[in-house]
Amino acid sequence: MPIRKVGVLGAGLMGSGIAEVCAKAGYDTVVREVSDDLVRKGLSRIEGSLGKAVEKGKLAAADRDAAWKRISSTTRLEDLADCDLIIEAIVENLDLKKETYRTLDAACKPATIFCSNTSSLTITEMSAATKRPDRFAGLHFFNPVPVMKLVEVVRTIATSDETAATVFEFAKSLGKEPIRTHDNSGFIVNRLLVPYLLDAVRALEEGVGSREDIDKGMELGCGHPMGPLKLLDFVGLDTTYAIAEIMFEEYREKRFAPPPLLKRMVLAGRYGKKSGRGFYEYGG
Ligand code: CAA
Ligand code: NAD
Repeated sequence: MPIRKVGVLGAGLMGSGIAEVCAKAGYDTVVREVSDDLVRKGLSRIEGSLGKAVEKGKLAAADRDAAWKRISSTTRLEDLADCDLIIEAIVENLDLKKETYRTLDAACKPATIFCSNTSSLTITEMSAATKRPDRFAGLHFFNPVPVMKLVEVVRTIATSDETAATVFEFAKSLGKEPIRTHDNSGFIVNRLLVPYLLDAVRALEEGVGSREDIDKGMELGCGHPMGPLKLLDFVGLDTTYAIAEIMFEEYREKRFAPPPLLKRMVLAGRYGKKSGRGFYEYGG
C-alpha cells in the first residue's frame, strides 16, 4: 500500500521532529496533541526548526513553505482515521500508549499501519491492544530527529512481511538509514546506550568527577559529540527515568536500574533542557 498521509501522535521533542521530516519528505502530515496549547507549542517548534534550516542554507525557502503547508494539526485522535501510517511519540508510559492505540484502532481504516517510537517498551505489548498486530511495527527515531540518520525498524513475531517491508522503505524515503532489530526492550541502541548513561549518573553520585569533567572525559577521550550528562539533559531526565524503569523491569539487571539521583532530579522537576534545568542550567 502506498503511504501518502502520515499521522504523528505527540508533538514533544520527538513528535515535532518526526512530523518535520515526514512533511519535508513530501507526506501530508497530521499532528495530534492533547491540548490546543501543546498543539501550538509543537507547531512552533517545527516552524522554528524549518526556519533554522533555511537560515543555514540547508533548505530552500520554497521547500520550507511546501513542507509547512503539508502539516495540519488536531487534538482529536479520530482526525487520523484516514492516515496510511501513524507514528506514535507520546510519553513513555505503557498504559497511556495502550489506551491511545485502542481508540485509534477503532477509529482508523483497516489498512492503517501503526508504528511506535518507544525507546524501551516492547512493540508486542502495545500491538496486543489492537486488532491489527500484523500491521504494527516499531519505528525508533533518534534525537534530534532532523539530524540523526538512524532509524531502528522493529518487527514483532506478528508483524507481517508486507508491513515490515513498507515501514523499512518508508524510513528510507525520509532520507534515514534504517536498521532491523527484534522486539527486545531497548532494541539495539538503547540496550547499549542506557546502561552507559545511567553509569555516568552513578559516577557523579559517587564523586568520581565533576559534571564537567565526566562530560569532557567522554567528549575528548572517546570522541563523543556530547558527554553523557549533557546527553541526558538533551534526551530528558523524565523520559530516561521511565526508560530505565521499564528496562530494569524487563531484564532485572542492575545496569538498567535508575540511580537515586536521577529519581530525585525528576521528582524536583529537573527534566533537563526542556524544563530549563537538569545536570546543567539552560537560559530562556
Ligand atoms: N534540529 C535540527 N538541527 C539541529 C538540531 C535540532 N534540534 N540540533 C542541532 N542541529 C544541527 C545544526 O543545525 C548543525 O547543522 P550544520 O552542521 O549543518 O550547521 C548540526 O546539527 C550540528 O549542530 P551544532 O553545530 O549546533 O552542534 P553540535 O555540533 O554540538 O551537534 C548534535 C549537535 C547533532 C546534537 C550533536 O551534539 C550530537 O550528535 N549529539 C549526540 C546526539 C545523540 O546521541 N542522540 C541520540 C540520543 S538517544 C535517542 O535519541 C534514543 C532514545 O530512545 C532516548
Ligand atoms: P516529550 O515529553 O517531549 O513529548 C511527549 C508528548 O506526547 C507531550 O507533548 C504530550 O503532551 C504528548 N502526548 C500526546 N498524547 C498523549 C497522551 N495520550 N498521553 C500523554 N501524553 C501525550 O517526550 P519525547 O522525548 O518526545 O518522547 C516521546 C516518545 O519518544 C517516548 O516514547 C520516548 O521514549 C521516545 N523517544 C524519546 C527520545 C528522546 O531522546 N527524548 C528518543 C527516541 C525515542
